[in-house]
Amino acid sequence: MEADKGKVCVTGGTGFVASWLIMRLLRHGYFVHTTIRPDPEHEREVSFLTSLPGASEKLQIFQADLRFPESFEAAIKGCTGVFHVATPVDFENKEPQEVIIKRTIDGTLGILKACLNSKTVRRVVYTSSVSAVWFSEKDKIVDTVDESFWSDVDYMKSINYFTFGPYMISKTFTEKIALEFAEEHGLDLVTIIPSLIVGPFICPKFPSSVHISMAMILGERQQYGLLLNVSMVHTDDVARAHIFLYEYPEAKGRYICSSHTITIEDMSKFLSAKYPEFPIPTVESLKDIEGYKTPGVSSKKLLDSGFEFKYGLDEMFDEAIQCCKENGYL
Ligand SMILES: NC(=O)c1ccc[n+]([C@@H]2O[C@H](COP(=O)([O-])OP(=O)(O)OC[C@H]3O[C@@H](n4cnc5c(N)ncnc54)[C@H](OP(=O)(O)O)[C@@H]3O)[C@@H](O)[C@H]2O)c1
Repeated sequence: MEADKGKVCVTGGTGFVASWLIMRLLRHGYFVHTTIRPDPEHEREVSFLTSLPGASEKLQIFQADLRFPESFEAAIKGCTGVFHVATPVDFENKEPQEVIIKRTIDGTLGILKACLNSKTVRRVVYTSSVSAVWFSEKDKIVDTVDESFWSDVDYMKSINYFTFGPYMISKTFTEKIALEFAEEHGLDLVTIIPSLIVGPFICPKFPSSVHISMAMILGERQQYGLLLNVSMVHTDDVARAHIFLYEYPEAKGRYICSSHTITIEDMSKFLSAKYPEFPIPTVESLKDIEGYKTPGVSSKKLLDSGFEFKYGLDEMFDEAIQCCKENGYL
């Protein structure tokens, strides 16, 4: 463990990305405040957080909900950095799109206001998503997108990308509004834009992105349309990139974080060669899979800043499979 690095807040500590980030921050020597959704009966399983190395001295859990933006104030107070990772992830669309979008935006603005009021927060790292760059207007479609691209919300609605519409739209609006708010109020905020995050996890639930990435291993054909040309990044690389962007003095604006892009055909070949124990669909059987072919994404800006990815596809899938086995998902 490294020397004391100060106190930071991570929103949504029960989540896939946030829990791994907390583990990394504790290892890097940070004191961590994290938020979980209100749990007055203390029934929530959080031992995967409280049992992390260093957690008993350096991790404090607060209760906060994006529906009540002011509820994050206590967790942010006294912190020098905030990693705003929490977001409503409702791919079953149990709630109306407008509700999800409003909650994500209002909650985020509440968090940013709390950062300003704290007078201690020197930088915010907001976790966006490739949804905010992938879906350019039809006439601007290219093979690879970078941080200069913004998804077009009307276009996103028109292509009806599985059940992800409300999530993708909320991520696009929120990143834009967060950057505008920061600019207007002189708040140092950078956004990180990860692609599909694949690899190990410590949270008890099966992370949706790991689930999607393993569709061919699990034989879930209805998901194959999401894998036509998928960009991916390892869990630990995403956590390391969050910390890098928090610590890198010159960080500014948006940063795509994605290490690999692979077509569905190449994924079929890769998985069948590596894991002969699973009935991976053949390239031939994938010919009729339909879906939106997402463009590749460029992490050049992050790499040019000095960040290095540590993991490849082998580690992403080996470690995801291992965690799925340990948790009974495979
Ligand atoms: N996984 C990916 O491939 C991927 C890719 C790009 C970007 N991202 C971004 O990474 C971040 C984390 O995603 P994830 O994959 O870790 O998802 P996740 O595991 O579903 O985590 C989402 C977190 O947000 C919390 N949350 C949801 N609604 C909330 C509310 N109303 N108030 C407070 N907290 C709330 C959840 O709490 P509960 O545990 O109580 O539900 C959970 O802790 C998100 O911002 C996402 O957009 C993820």
